[in-house]
Amino acid sequence: MPPKQPFLTDVKTLRERARKHIEQGAITGTYRADRATVVKLLNEALATEIVCVLRYRRHHFMAAGINADAVAAEFLTHANEEQQHADQIAARIVQLNGEPNFNPEGLLSRSHAEYVEGDTLIDMIKEDLVAERIAIDSYREMIDYLGDKDTTTRRMMEGILAMEEEHADDLVGMLEDLKT
Ligand SMILES: [Fe+2]
Ligand SMILES: [Fe+2]
Repeated sequence: MPPKQPFLTDVKTLRERARKHIEQGAITGTYRADRATVVKLLNEALATEIVCVLRYRRHHFMAAGINADAVAAEFLTHANEEQQHADQIAARIVQLNGEPNFNPEGLLSRSHAEYVEGDTLIDMIKEDLVAERIAIDSYREMIDYLGDKDTTTRRMMEGILAMEEEHADDLVGMLEDLKT
């Protein structure tokens, strides 16, 4: 005779468990990642995104000043997308009962990406490309770490990673256009 419920928890246990620690909201007893570590990693990703917003915005205004309108517009698009990533990450930190760190003090050391102003348009694009490549590597490591322990955070980071890959690809294209 096949067992009635081969691997799922029975409804009675599920219901009883859900009533315990309701103040923890989305975080239940079956959350399998180390919450403090995930919040710390997410705060580093948040700092990385904020530094990228600032760098791209600086580049946007400086490129506009040297009549590179198409590139300036692309920098602004990236800046706004990095801001969306920062917001998504901050919201997830709160869901995990953590606190998003927006403190400007120590921002650069929490960030994996650097803030380099760059003197020329080519320098700006190259610095943005380097920063994207840093984010790509660090987010990929984070995704590996999360594995199946926190799939919601993992999926969010996978979406962000895909966009950083698009950014890097855009920047390489911009460098090639400037060479010709
Ligand atoms: Fe981003
Ligand atoms: Fe990016």
